[in-house]
Amino acid sequence: MQVEATAPGKMILFGEHSVVYRGPAVVLAIDRRARVYASRRDDRKVYVDADNLGFSGYFEDDVYHSVRGKAWRGRNLAALNVAAKKTMDHLGVESGVNLKVRSMIPIAVGLGSSAAICVATVGAVERLFDAGLSKEEISRLAFEGETIIHGKPSGVDNTVSTFGGVLSYERDAGIKHHKLDSSMPFIIGNTRKKRSTRKMVESVAALKERNPALMDSIIDSMGGIAGEGLDALLAKDIRRIGDLMNMNHGLLSAIGVSTMKLESLVHTARQNGALGAKLTGAGGGGCMIAVAEEERMRAVEKAIRRRKSDSYRVQLTDRGVESRWIEEGNADS
Ligand code: PMV
Repeated sequence: MQVEATAPGKMILFGEHSVVYRGPAVVLAIDRRARVYASRRDDRKVYVDADNLGFSGYFEDDVYHSVRGKAWRGRNLAALNVAAKKTMDHLGVESGVNLKVRSMIPIAVGLGSSAAICVATVGAVERLFDAGLSKEEISRLAFEGETIIHGKPSGVDNTVSTFGGVLSYERDAGIKHHKLDSSMPFIIGNTRKKRSTRKMVESVAALKERNPALMDSIIDSMGGIAGEGLDALLAKDIRRIGDLMNMNHGLLSAIGVSTMKLESLVHTARQNGALGAKLTGAGGGGCMIAVAEEERMRAVEKAIRRRKSDSYRVQLTDRGVESRWIEEGNADS
């Protein structure tokens, strides 16, 4: 028998970058999930099979040994090693684990892939030892893995992936969960260009240092949009959500985090009937999101694909981390 655990990715609807300074960000769990299968080992190794990402290897005393793919890829897997080991330490068990990772969340494009994989890893390992950890504990342990990749993450990604649903995050107020009783579809356009969140945050900080007063007023406006955006989302007012997304995108463009490709996808979406479109996450590549009335959605998706980009339809999901025992060999590959 082995354990299967899954956890959702996320998208930022409003407030990226401004949230680094003040004001809320509004974040949604989406129905694209990371899947981790876990089984026990007799030794103390953490073996990670990420074959569908092109690499596999194991950690022994935190040193990575590549089995498939380039050795430097171990960097990408270090977070899982940390998440798995911290979980076993927390449970007071001395063991090794096999982890098999299969994710439907594209990597490094702002959709919370690494957090979802860390959350699913903790979820799988804690179930493997029948620990019954609370979601708070799972989220906290996953955060320790995330820290390896992102340095100082806000904690939003692991929280939304663990609990699912909608949340808002503000530096001073922390994380708040919100109830949205029905689902709502969004279109994601993926430029396929990977980017570094840290670099984008640094470029905004540099712009702010050169233009403090103007940047302050832009950041305040973004915070205002995110606050109203949360109300519009909870009221399911799609037209207003669209207006606010468009405004938010204009300001993200103003602070230099958009790209020609993101602009092209945002304008393509609007031209094809989207009520609103904006980049999501750190920018500099990665993804954009759009909302449209049901009858326009296909046209928007097709138009994005014609721009040599990927397009997916996603729904908000209330399903956070989940785990179950399954027969060995029943894992999808
Ligand atoms: O692209 P992501 O999902 O890494 O989002 C980054 C969000 C920022 O506001 C740009 C940074 C942050 O830490 O909040």
